[in-house]
Amino acid sequence: MTTTRVLVDGSPGLSVRADDRGLLYGDGLFETCALRDGRPLLWARHLDRLALGCQRLGLPAPDREVLTRESLGLCAAVRRGVLKLLLTRGRGGRGYRPPAVPTPTRIVSLHPLPDYPPSFWTDGIELRVCATPLGDNPRLAGVKHLNRLEQVLARGEWDDPAVPEGLMLDTRGRVVEGTMSNVFAVTRGGLLTPALERCGVAGVMREEVLALAADLAIPARIGEVSLADLAAADEVLVTNSLIGLWPVRRVAGRSLAPGPMARRLLEALRRRGAV
Ligand SMILES: Cc1ncc(COP(=O)(O)O)c(C=O)c1O
Repeated sequence: MTTTRVLVDGSPGLSVRADDRGLLYGDGLFETCALRDGRPLLWARHLDRLALGCQRLGLPAPDREVLTRESLGLCAAVRRGVLKLLLTRGRGGRGYRPPAVPTPTRIVSLHPLPDYPPSFWTDGIELRVCATPLGDNPRLAGVKHLNRLEQVLARGEWDDPAVPEGLMLDTRGRVVEGTMSNVFAVTRGGLLTPALERCGVAGVMREEVLALAADLAIPARIGEVSLADLAAADEVLVTNSLIGLWPVRRVAGRSLAPGPMARRLLEALRRRGAV
C-alpha cells in the first residue's frame, strides 16, 4: 500500500484550520492502529483508550460508530497498513483557556506499514538509552496525547537505522518506556513492566500482553524498573501496536539472546489476531 488517504471530519482532505488547538497547543489525542485485511487490529482497545483520554482531557468522546464506519471505509481492501485516528479540541481562538463547548476535529488517515527488517522479530533489536528524560505529570500519564516533544527530542538523538528504538527514563533515572513502545523485563519466567502513573503512554499492546499473560498464567508485575533490572533480566521486550513485540538483543551494555518468552508471546499474539 503506497497511497495515503485522509478524512477530516468525515470528508476527504488534508487541511485543518490554522486556529485548531491540536496545532496551537497539541490539545488532543491520537491512536495508531495496525491494519490487516481491511480491519484495524485491537480496535476496541484503541477506542477505549481514546475514550479514556477524552475523559482525562475533558473532551467530548467521539461517536464509536462514526469512527468505526469511517475507519472501515478507509481500510476496505487494504491488506496491510497503518490507520491513524486523531482528535483535537477543535478551534478555540487565541489563549490556552479551553472553549466551554468544544467542537472537536476528527482526522482518520491511512499510511503504509513501516518497513522493518524481519530480523527485528527473530534476532532482536538494539535498544539505546536516550538522554532526554520524560517529565512527571500524573494528569497526563498514560494518555496518548498530541504533546510528543519529549519523544521528538529523544528520537533526534540518533540516526542509525540499525537501532530502531531508544529507551526513555524519568528524571530520577527510572525506566519508563521506549520512544514509541512499552518495555517488559522477563525474569524467572515472569514479566515486569514499568508503572505509568507519573509519565509514559499506556500502550494498547502493553495491555494486550498483560491480558495474554493472565490467560497463559504467566506472572506479570507492574512496578518500578531500573536500568539494572533490564541489565539483569533473562529477556527484554518492547511492544507497540504496529510491531507487536520485538525482543531486545542489546541494552544497557548487555547482550541478550531472544528467548522463549518473546517467541511464546509473539506466537500467541499472532494466534489472537493482535498483530
Ligand atoms: C511514547 C509511546 N509509548 C508507548 C507506545 C505504545 O503504544 P501502543 O501499544 O498503543 O502502540 C507508543 C506508540 O506509539 C508511544 O508513542
